Amino acid sequence: MKKVAVLTAGGDCPGLNAVIRAIVHRFHDAGGEVVGLRLGYQGLAERAFLPLPLAAVSGFLTRGGTMLGTSAFDPTREPEGVERCRAALADEGIDAIIAIGGDHTMHISRKLVTEHGLPVVGVPKTIDNDIVGTDWTFGFDTAVHVATEAIDRLRTTAASHDRIIVLEVMGADAGWIAVHAGMAGGADAILIPELSLTVADIAAAIRKRHARGKRFSIVVVAEGALLRRDADDPGAQVLHEGGSGRYHFRRLGGIGEALALALEEELQVDTRAVVLGHVQRGGIPTSTDRILATRYGIAAAECALRGEFGGMVALRGGTYTTVPLADVHGIKTVDPETLRDLELLLV
Ligand code: F6P
Repeated sequence: MKKVAVLTAGGDCPGLNAVIRAIVHRFHDAGGEVVGLRLGYQGLAERAFLPLPLAAVSGFLTRGGTMLGTSAFDPTREPEGVERCRAALADEGIDAIIAIGGDHTMHISRKLVTEHGLPVVGVPKTIDNDIVGTDWTFGFDTAVHVATEAIDRLRTTAASHDRIIVLEVMGADAGWIAVHAGMAGGADAILIPELSLTVADIAAAIRKRHARGKRFSIVVVAEGALLRRDADDPGAQVLHEGGSGRYHFRRLGGIGEALALALEEELQVDTRAVVLGHVQRGGIPTSTDRILATRYGIAAAECALRGEFGGMVALRGGTYTTVPLADVHGIKTVDPETLRDLELLLV
C-alpha cells in the first residue's frame, strides 16, 4: 500500500479536517502518500487532486468544514462514472480510497466495492448521529454543544418575557440532537420523529408547568418531526410533514414556526420560534469530536494499509472497530432507553 486518496462527501460537519489530518499523519508514518479528491467522488471521476503532504494539514485539527470541499456526486449514476474512477485510480497509482461521508456516501461506497470491486474504506460522519453500525459520529457532539448553548441563552430571555420559545434543531430522520441538547439544556418539551407527541400533548405539559407557577417554557423540536394537533385525527391534522418533506417545509418557515403558532393559539401565550440551522454544522469541533475524528482517521488509514476494503470504521460499545459497508443502511433512531429517560424527565 503506497498511495491513498481521501474524499469528503455529503453535508459538512466539524471534524472532517481532523480525519484527513490523521490519515495524512498515519500514512506519512508508514512511508505512504496521501492525495485529496476535490468535492467528493467528483474529484476522482474528474481527476481533481490535491497533494496532501504533512505540511498541508498543519493547523487543520481544529478547523471546521472540509479542506477538500464536498458534494453528493454519485459516480454510479453518471455516464461512464465508475469507469472514469477506475481509470483515474490506475493512472495515478492510487491503491485505496478513504470515503468520509454519511449514509448516502456509504451507500455509494458499498456499490463501488461490491458491484465494481473498487478498494474503498468508509468513515462515518454526520452531526445527526443517525448512521447505522456506529454508536457515535463526529460532528454530533459539537452540534449538541451549540444547541445546548442556544437553549441556555433562550431560557433567560423566555423567562424575562413569560414566553414559550420553540427551538428548531437539525435531525431530518432522527431526534438525536434534539434529545441530547434538550436533556442537557433542561427543555420542557421535546418533539422528535421517534415519538408521536402532538400539540395537545405539549400544551398539556406546559399547562402543568403554569399550574406549578412556571410562566415560561422552552420547547425543542427536530426539523423532521411530525406535527399534529392531536392524536384523534392524524390524517386531517398534519401541520408539518416529517422526513423527506423537510426541504419543502423549511422554505415555508419550518416546523419550529408551525409549532410556535399552534402553541400560541392553544395556550394564548406569547411565543417565538428560533431555527438554529447550519450554525450547528459550522465552526471548530469540540475536543470529543476531535478525538473521535482523529481515531477514525487512524483506524481507516490502518485498514487501507492492511489492504482491508469494504468496511466502515466504527465505535461500538467503547471499542474502535470495522463494520461491513453491506450492513450500513437505514437510519439509526434514538434508542428506547434514552427515550424512556426523556419521557420521565418531561412528565
Ligand atoms: O447533515 C445532515 C443534515 O444536517 C440534516 O439534519 C439536514 O436536514 C441537512 O443536513 C441539511 O443539509 P443541507 O442544507 O446542506 O442540504
